[in-house]
Amino acid sequence: MARRRTKILVVGSTGQVGSELTPALRRRYGFENVIAGWHTRPPTPSLREGPTVRLDAMRRSDVERVVRKFEVDSIYHLGVVLSAVGEKSPERAWTVNIDGLRNVLEAARKNGVPNIFWPSSMAVFGKGAPRDNTPQDAPLLPSTIYGVTKVAGELLCNYYFGRFGLDVRSLRFPGIISSETPPGGGTTDYAVEIFYEAIRKERYTCFLKPETTLPMMYMPDCVKATVQLMESAASKIKVRTSYNVTGMSFSASELAKEIRTHIPEFKCNYRVDFRQAIADSWPRSMDDSAARSDWGWYPEHNLSSMTKEMLARVNDRLK
Ligand code: SER
Repeated sequence: MARRRTKILVVGSTGQVGSELTPALRRRYGFENVIAGWHTRPPTPSLREGPTVRLDAMRRSDVERVVRKFEVDSIYHLGVVLSAVGEKSPERAWTVNIDGLRNVLEAARKNGVPNIFWPSSMAVFGKGAPRDNTPQDAPLLPSTIYGVTKVAGELLCNYYFGRFGLDVRSLRFPGIISSETPPGGGTTDYAVEIFYEAIRKERYTCFLKPETTLPMMYMPDCVKATVQLMESAASKIKVRTSYNVTGMSFSASELAKEIRTHIPEFKCNYRVDFRQAIADSWPRSMDDSAARSDWGWYPEHNLSSMTKEMLARVNDRLK
């Protein structure tokens, strides 16, 4: 992949994806060229190794000020309210997810920022979409407000591309599994929490049923997909809403079993809550063949390699 000169602003750099994508972008494009934008959660010492800026994506003037000050040419907008928290506060989920994106797109359009990355999610799917190998073009009828904001956001991205020529690119991520920063308030969070509890207590109580299968992706593949999408020639990007991408699919009990190959004493119990209904409305696996054929996407991690690495990393963090 070709490297290019760039000045990137990451909005939401201290969240689950930002805390690992930001350092990866810095290693690739130069530390001084990637500005870590944050709002509620302050940056860690490792994020402070490069430029940081406090900005509230809810305030368009804030986004514009930062874009002008740092002469930004790419924005990665990661700030979001996830599915489970969104159901507790749908109004807030709409405001944060949609107004935040509108502010970023408008700030980009008005200030000539050509490149935008915005993550969508498997949560765009719901009623009427096949749950196995969900196609790129399946109906988008989500049951969560989070999914509704992702569908609306995809349409908005597609509109800004068609109407204003903004090079907005997007991926429909499955559940992201990572060790640096825990996700906050999603339905796939169990697949991160389980590692911490397996190491700390050798037991975990899962809020989804054992047979609940969801598509997932390990963070290094999430970073790889994002960088590869953003570095692809514009002519290769044929989907301007958002591309399905996935890494693996497993059930909660399959993950527990895989952890037991490393920690034989590990016990997983199940106490189902409202997040079960959310998981039951989502794909069990996603068809990402459009991303594979358009710009050469393929994942590198499976359940076994991800579990091995996660246990090693979480173990190090908890020392
Ligand atoms: N990880 C997200 C959630 O669970 C799905 O995109 O809300």
